[in-house]
Amino acid sequence: MPSEKFKLAVLVSGRGSNLQAIIDSIEKKYLPAEISLILSNVPDAYALQRGKKHGLETVFLDPKKFSKRDDYEKHMIELLQTKSIDLICLAGFMRILGKNFIEAFSGKIINIHPSLLPAFPGLNVQEKALEHGVKFSGCTVHFVNEEVDGGAIILQAVVPIHDDDDAQSLSDRILEQEHIIYPEAIRLIIEDKLEFSGRRVTQKTKEN
Ligand code: GAR
Repeated sequence: MPSEKFKLAVLVSGRGSNLQAIIDSIEKKYLPAEISLILSNVPDAYALQRGKKHGLETVFLDPKKFSKRDDYEKHMIELLQTKSIDLICLAGFMRILGKNFIEAFSGKIINIHPSLLPAFPGLNVQEKALEHGVKFSGCTVHFVNEEVDGGAIILQAVVPIHDDDDAQSLSDRILEQEHIIYPEAIRLIIEDKLEFSGRRVTQKTKEN
């Protein structure tokens, strides 16, 4: 009997280039996984079209149909539980997740963020990096906890900031690295290669 594939859910709100990087990594057999669900909180997110193009199940869950955030997330939890998801990947999902959701999938939610955390959490981070005058920025894949962009760091990539950069050029350079390290981090999780010590995440050595 073939073994069950590792099941991913990808949560999106927009363009979906990180979703595309995950899809491509699966199709190239770099990731031994399948995307069981793509969930968007935005109706016309281009990410949904990308998913459909690859024959993947997509769903738009309308936050306006729920009076409380908790009810919306309860619905999300139920939907994801019916799919027996192993890992939830936030890929440009622009909603803060609440305690109940995070507890329901404890240790099974990861996010990609376009800065070297803990520098510049939150929104408009390329502008913030340029304003601050840092010479390097980058991106971070991290576990999601209740602190926004505050969970344990899995992988980071460093990107230089050039004197003539604006937010767009910096964002583009960071995005190239996001598309590399997000699939890498997912692969480390699938292959059970991570070790945990407090909030420090390292890669298991071969002897382990
Ligand atoms: C990416 O740059 C991602 O790091 C960022 O949104 C963009 C989504 O692009 N996420 C955050 O800022 C989360 N705090 P994509 O839709 O093309 O993957």
